[in-house]
Amino acid sequence: MKKILILNGPNLNLLGRREPTVYGHRSFDDYLAELRRQFEGRAELSYFQSNHEGDLIDRLHEVGFGGVDGVVLNAGAYTHTSVALHDAIRAIEVPVVEVHISNVHQREEFRHHSMISAACRGVICGFGLDSYRLAIEAMV
Ligand code: DQA
Repeated sequence: MKKILILNGPNLNLLGRREPTVYGHRSFDDYLAELRRQFEGRAELSYFQSNHEGDLIDRLHEVGFGGVDGVVLNAGAYTHTSVALHDAIRAIEVPVVEVHISNVHQREEFRHHSMISAACRGVICGFGLDSYRLAIEAMV
């Protein structure tokens, strides 16, 4: 049974209420319950969300040396800005898969570049909340 941390960055606590035309109407708590049912017996899913860059880095450090088997990371807007997250992903030993709900390449130009992709094991974007399931499948 794989241990996987889902790590969500800024504004993702507002899923379901935030720009529903882009991110959908479903809360992450509701989706997480479904994910846990889907992966029962295959993966143990833990979850952490923070609006603060340093908290995300601290959590990567905490789990990054064998605490979990992999991390599914939606870094939100920090994706496009954070050298510190890039370095944290490189610093740890467990693989990180970058996910995005929206297809960032169809959106504003400032979302086209990711500071973290080069440090990640892979990238999945544009499949709505299903991006998380696909990333977990890849990890499992
Ligand atoms: C996002 C895309 C980012 O550009 C944005 O800042 C987010 C969410 C996504 O899941 O589509 O907060 O990571």
